[in-house]
Amino acid sequence: MSKKDIFQKILKKPASVSVEEVARVLEDDSLNEPLFEIANEVRNLYLGKDVYLRGIIEFSNYCRNDCLYCGIRSSNSKVSRYRMSVDEILNTAKFIAENGCGTVVLQSGEDPFYNDEMIAEIVHRIKKLDVAVTLSIGERSFKEYKTWREAGADRYLMRHETADEELYKQVHPADDFNIRKRHLEMLKQLDYEVGTGCIVGLPHQDDLSLAKDILFTYEFDSDMVGIGPFIPHPDTPLGKEKPGSLMKTLKVIALTRLFLPDSNIPATTALGTIDPRGRRLALNCGANVIMPNFTPVSYRPRFTLYPNKVCIFESDAQCGDFRDSIRDLIETAGYKAVESQGFRRRVHENNSRRI
Ligand code: 5AD
Repeated sequence: MSKKDIFQKILKKPASVSVEEVARVLEDDSLNEPLFEIANEVRNLYLGKDVYLRGIIEFSNYCRNDCLYCGIRSSNSKVSRYRMSVDEILNTAKFIAENGCGTVVLQSGEDPFYNDEMIAEIVHRIKKLDVAVTLSIGERSFKEYKTWREAGADRYLMRHETADEELYKQVHPADDFNIRKRHLEMLKQLDYEVGTGCIVGLPHQDDLSLAKDILFTYEFDSDMVGIGPFIPHPDTPLGKEKPGSLMKTLKVIALTRLFLPDSNIPATTALGTIDPRGRRLALNCGANVIMPNFTPVSYRPRFTLYPNKVCIFESDAQCGDFRDSIRDLIETAGYKAVESQGFRRRVHENNSRRI
């Protein structure tokens, strides 16, 4: 069997591929070019040249969690905390819709200040703008997930972060991967489109860990998968560790595209942060979504999950430069920014076949 035959195996019989086989592709850099090429072909075949835009509002940087890698973890006392008012959130959502993004993403730290009714009210009012609404606000109760779904929320992003149980414990000492899985299952049960995803290059993560991430997103049948490199934040316990690599992150994206040909995969802001070519390269090897940042500029520098985030000047009501940066990036990469709400269009309902 030639080394490249693994790609056909993933496409034709994904359920039969082992963690070791995926890890072997991740460690073999002679496979990079053919992997990127085939991931791009699969993306073009299933999704064409369209790129979906998801305008993101980072509406609160308060967080009750203490993830070792994250800049807004609760024990980082250097963070200047903020919360946007309901009106500020709604005005920003309106601006997103006017700028041709078919989805509004509401993202925050895990901040119980926004209770079930507040979020339901915000969702309900944003839905009147004729956009899809995605929540990315962490682990909450089943009852809350249900209330928000009934209020009109379409999607929920909750990265699994790492599917390596031991590593999950190391970077979230108070938590457990099985709890995260249960939350993801609840969201699926409520018929949200569910997004998982991982960080690439966490300390002590190896190719086997990353292979588990890829197989987890496949087995869970994630509608969306966000994959970005680890970027050390100086005010966290992992501040002196090495960042994740561009190449490895692109490989994880490309492999994920082979396992999930019709899912939505963003070219993440973290990739654009570690390398100016990052997001363009991601679009060329399987990614099909961009998430422009619409957080008002007064708050934006305070939502620092990691330092030097690229999006600081990308789009805002005052300078209106959204069209220039992100749209240019998409067009010069050879793709087309579309206004569609960008739901997952399942090509094979029963998952039984691919090309
Ligand atoms: N580097 C890269 N990604 C990070 N995230 C949080 N902190 C970091 C970091 N230092 C990611 C997590 C989270 C998402 C919103 O941002 O995966 O789910």
